[in-house]
Amino acid sequence: MKSLLIVANFKSNMTSTEATDWLQNFSNYKANPNKKVVLCPSFTLLQLFNKYIKDQNLDIGLGAQNISRLPQGPYTGEVNGAQIKDFAEYVLIGHSERRQFGEDESVVEEKVKISIDYKLTPILFVQDENNVVPQEVTVAVYEPPSAISTSSNPIIESPENANSIAQKLKNEREISILYGGSVDSKNVKDFTKEENISGVLVGNASLDAKEFLKIVEMA
Ligand code: PGA
Repeated sequence: MKSLLIVANFKSNMTSTEATDWLQNFSNYKANPNKKVVLCPSFTLLQLFNKYIKDQNLDIGLGAQNISRLPQGPYTGEVNGAQIKDFAEYVLIGHSERRQFGEDESVVEEKVKISIDYKLTPILFVQDENNVVPQEVTVAVYEPPSAISTSSNPIIESPENANSIAQKLKNEREISILYGGSVDSKNVKDFTKEENISGVLVGNASLDAKEFLKIVEMA
């Protein structure tokens, strides 16, 4: 059985009260050695999630949704790799929603480099098979922006097409390619059963802890 990575991207959602409720609803979570779960809450919630995972002794990863391309220093409003490393091991880089705020390929490359410097694992988003996946990246998400559930008229990628794009992106390397875009408990298996897909990244459906538990179970 192949190992899967199942990532929840909560985006700019949840207050600390809502996060506590989410964790309460997630308390039936049962670890599965073949399914690694990574939760990516907002910066403000990383400490809360980190404490819960430690207190419950859970094998769940934590990721930030962004990282400063700069080190520690006089950069008001930036959150740097050392600060993230206090609580998390992963960082999402190059999501299409961030690319909309002007994050271009060179910024993405800098962010990949600095995450590795801080010993964080970058999870890099790519939108098609022409995107370059830098050598040092070990986890990438193939996520066409048009497949994101909150885009107007989302078009979910077909699992077969996602698989062939994942194969091209891998380019015979040892790299995990996840699929992202409108994943839920009903369609998750269609993607994870594909040979070249090593997991999924879930946005909107992960906000409901019970649905996210179902996604993990069905994957
Ligand atoms: P979605 O979002 O699962 O709601 O489509 C995925 C993402 O954009 O990260």
